[in-house]
Amino acid sequence: MHTESKHLDVAVVGSGYVGLVTGACLASLGHRVICVDTDDRKVEAINARVAPIFEPGLDELLRSLPGERFSATTDLARAIAATDVSMIAVGTPFDGTRIDLSSVEAAARDIGRALAGKTTFHVVVVKSTVIPGTTDGLVTAALEEGSGKTAGVDFGVAMNPEFLRQGEALRDFLEPDRIVIGAGDPRTVDRVSALYAAFDHCPHVITTTKTAEMIKYTANSLLATLISFSNEIGNLCEAVGDVDAMDVMRGVHLDRRLTPTDSSGARISPAVLGYLQAGCGFGGSCFPKDVKALLAHGQAAAVPMPMLDAVLSINAQQPARTLELLRKRCPELGGRRVSVLGLAFKAGTDDMRESPAIPIVRALLDAGATVTAYDPVAGANAARIFGSTLALADSVADAIAGADAILVLTNWPAFVDLPRLVALRDPQPVVVDARRVFPVSAFERYEGTGLNTSSSPLMERVPV
Ligand SMILES: NC(=O)c1ccc[n+]([C@@H]2O[C@H](COP(=O)([O-])OP(=O)(O)OC[C@H]3O[C@@H](n4cnc5c(N)ncnc54)[C@H](O)[C@@H]3O)[C@@H](O)[C@H]2O)c1
Repeated sequence: MHTESKHLDVAVVGSGYVGLVTGACLASLGHRVICVDTDDRKVEAINARVAPIFEPGLDELLRSLPGERFSATTDLARAIAATDVSMIAVGTPFDGTRIDLSSVEAAARDIGRALAGKTTFHVVVVKSTVIPGTTDGLVTAALEEGSGKTAGVDFGVAMNPEFLRQGEALRDFLEPDRIVIGAGDPRTVDRVSALYAAFDHCPHVITTTKTAEMIKYTANSLLATLISFSNEIGNLCEAVGDVDAMDVMRGVHLDRRLTPTDSSGARISPAVLGYLQAGCGFGGSCFPKDVKALLAHGQAAAVPMPMLDAVLSINAQQPARTLELLRKRCPELGGRRVSVLGLAFKAGTDDMRESPAIPIVRALLDAGATVTAYDPVAGANAARIFGSTLALADSVADAIAGADAILVLTNWPAFVDLPRLVALRDPQPVVVDARRVFPVSAFERYEGTGLNTSSSPLMERVPV
């Protein structure tokens, strides 16, 4: 038993964006971690101290971890036998109708079988985002069935949602704003709390597993709602003209409830403001699937959720609206050379899951445009999706060479030089700034989300 010990032995089952970051960060806090994955290439890469995903600082962190404190394996049974806690961090995609819990169930069943031979109290923690009731229902049933033992008596079960953001995952994990632990018995709560003993500066929310599950969905749904709300306002600004959604949102942000003052009276700019800005829509492995899963969960419980329905339908339109901005300047896309800057769902990650760039690139290709794209880290993942239909450049300069139009889809610092590079061209290509990264005045031919340039005094319309 290690409950009194400062450092625990932890198995993290599923070594993707969440599992690997969780495992590496827990090891950096002194716990002994074994990462488990069914993908042996990932396991080999982790043991070779090369992150199989892009996450700033992760390679360096992996290299700093000694083998006796951090390793990876495909042998789940061995990992469970050697540890006090196992965390389930496998994917929970949306299957088109509802959340797909098959990986969670498979992991729980395998862990259950491994628990059959354990004599010490082991705690299984669900870290994956799962709909309310999953931990107490499907996960506990699979663990009990696999082990022949009783949850809460022979082993513990907890739900501990993860709030890290890709691109800032290490800092988010190591400097959390809250730790949420849902569990039914004090022994399990103590064990999970011991994992996070180093984070005594932030609130620890000790609650039921269902509440913990619901907190995660509610948090993601709120942020997705802010984005779709901002996009709806941006779409109206675009249509009515003489009003820029950026100016509107700046004025809204100055409400002291959104930008409070610090002790010196200076305004604080909370990160939530980044969600209150029009753009080309949210993507990634979380917001789209989590809002869809919660909506489906509501429908199954006969609770209509019209607001979340609207959040999704607004979001689904945003990529097409970005293309409409391009068509304002370039009505016929056939034969045009279009450069796309930013392919992952946001800057700072290589994750292409549900990226708005996917429907945008597909529509450009379908319209007969020649597309060249650049993303500092997502090129390999984009190549897997588009194959040879999409030309990938190695730099912004290469991507925009000869382009008739440039779409800026994410806000990477690597794009900062774009105004200078575009200014070298005569005539200048059209720039469609889906994320409003650049000032309107940075380019001769500019279109931006939430802005109607035909009515803007700043803009002179020049046909392509
Ligand atoms: N990505 C994020 O930013 C983020 C943030 C918070 C929460 N989450 C949630 O965390 C969970 C994991 O997300 P992710 O982005 O890390 O997923 P991911 O797809 O990157 O990683 C999942 C990993 O699990 C492995 N796996 C699948 N089945 C397995 C099994 N039975 N045994 C062992 N390994 C198995 C896969 O090979 C893969 O490496 C999801 O529920 C997600 O909603 C994600």
